[in-house]
Amino acid sequence: MELKGKVCVVTGASSGIGRRAAIDLAARGATVCGVARRAERLESVISGLSGDGHSMVPADVTKKTQVTAMASHVKEVHGRCDILVNSAGIGGAGTFDGRAAVGRTEEVMKTNFFGALYCTAELMPLLEAAAPCSVVNIASIAGRLALRGSSAYAASKFALVGWSEALHFELAERGVFVSLVEPGPLPTEGFPMTGLVKDPLMRRVLTSDEKVSSAILDAVARRKMQRVVPRWYYLLSIARVLVPPVYRFAQGPLATVRKHRVPEDG
Ligand SMILES: NC(=O)c1ccc[n+]([C@@H]2O[C@H](COP(=O)([O-])OP(=O)(O)OC[C@H]3O[C@@H](n4cnc5c(N)ncnc54)[C@H](OP(=O)(O)O)[C@@H]3O)[C@@H](O)[C@H]2O)c1
Repeated sequence: MELKGKVCVVTGASSGIGRRAAIDLAARGATVCGVARRAERLESVISGLSGDGHSMVPADVTKKTQVTAMASHVKEVHGRCDILVNSAGIGGAGTFDGRAAVGRTEEVMKTNFFGALYCTAELMPLLEAAAPCSVVNIASIAGRLALRGSSAYAASKFALVGWSEALHFELAERGVFVSLVEPGPLPTEGFPMTGLVKDPLMRRVLTSDEKVSSAILDAVARRKMQRVVPRWYYLLSIARVLVPPVYRFAQGPLATVRKHRVPEDG
């Protein structure tokens, strides 16, 4: 898809992957509408984009009324929506401790899954009118591989993966191409990966916002259903399906990666 003149709504544009995607889309001639809760952070990203005509909507994707207002803004200001990148998300690390885990899981589901659902639903009329168009949902390798200590996050990303795959098959015939970009760990504000960054060996498992953004652009350009970043992580999800005992055994070594992370890492 030629990006020049296309209108792209990017949620989570105030930081990390969403911020990088906004910068890269604008650099290729697209008009960006950034969405996130922190107005000042969003303003500094949007005002620094190349080209003009960009806009922003400070909004919480878990609040339906704010998402409806965001879609109205896109219609009034831009008149169309060609690409939606659902990147808004939070971590949810923590062992399952009964009742206390319920609130955390609800909060993570609301942001990582329902946020993407609300934004896609509210922008659907504009997306269909602009077809062929793209929706890119930022899931995670955690949407294919569940690790101990991340039940809330895994639930939200498994939900996002299942929903996106079903939508991909359902909406393609209407010209709406739904893609999943599934990153492995990378250090960002909400997911600092402190332990991994400090460890010279474990640091190698990290990817970067530039690489994830490049996968987003690739998914849009080639209408790819799935892009895993880095690509070799794809082999891990294959192992889970083809040789479940190997996958279960790998929980041990994978727990080593987990041990290098702290709760704030998501
Ligand atoms: N970093 C990783 O290791 C990693 C790996 C795989 C997948 N991911 C996924 O990538 C996506 C982006 O994460 P990131 O690493 O870029 O983290 P980040 O730098 O913390 O960015 C998260 C973004 O989401 C926004 N956000 C959070 N809750 C929101 C809400 N309720 N309403 C609107 N915006 C909200 C934040 O903005 P405000 O705070 O201003 O609202 C921020 O712009 C997430 O879906 C995450 O699950 C990350």
